[in-house]
Amino acid sequence: MSLNIAIDGPAGAGKSTIAKAVAKKMNLIYVDTGAMYRAMALYMVKMNIDLKDTEKIIEAGKNVDITIRYEDGVQVVYLNGENVNAFLRTEAVGNAASTVSVIGEIRQKLVELQQKLAAESDCIMDGRDIGTCVLPNAQRKIYLTASSDVRAKRRYDELVAKGEECDLAKIKADIEERDYRDMHREVSPLKQAEDAILVDSSYMTIDEVIAEIIRICEM
Ligand code: DC
Repeated sequence: MSLNIAIDGPAGAGKSTIAKAVAKKMNLIYVDTGAMYRAMALYMVKMNIDLKDTEKIIEAGKNVDITIRYEDGVQVVYLNGENVNAFLRTEAVGNAASTVSVIGEIRQKLVELQQKLAAESDCIMDGRDIGTCVLPNAQRKIYLTASSDVRAKRRYDELVAKGEECDLAKIKADIEERDYRDMHREVSPLKQAEDAILVDSSYMTIDEVIAEIIRICEM
């Protein structure tokens, strides 16, 4: 049986940064499930599908093939055969992913892919429903969170460092809107699994969070 570690939490809590570092230290594959929902959303945006039209999204979703490969330890997402990694990390695609991921039919397809990857390899997988739904039998479950003020400020600093113009209040409002949608949807909402360990990173450095999660994993 492979070793599976689940990390869930709201947008901007630092899940991917932490999971990547822990994967490296513990020699695990890092499975970024948000990237799969982002690829699905990217397809809908490219095809001009109205994101309010659930039926159209379900129909269009049938034409989507998402394949995951690991190239030099990095997860590469192929959308209908094309490497789309470079297009996934924008705010617009993240918000569209949050909308598309509300739909059960879309989730089902991606959950199957995630479960297959976890069965094949020792991995650390991050998302919203990993501990509660995708990998209920994961050996370790972590719920990583931080206050919305701290998450917004981290995102703001990241964008400023990239030279992008941005507004802290707008980023915070977007984060809170995304939290609400992810936590209140009907299918697999974001919530802490009963057997997950809570880590609040609001007042921790990245290195402290990595050390804490490795400590939890080695317990
Ligand atoms: O983690 P992220 O920001 O890349 O995720 C983008 C969106 O995808 C997120 O707002 C909700 C959705 N998502 C999900 O519903 N379930 C997951 N396991 C991962 C992401």
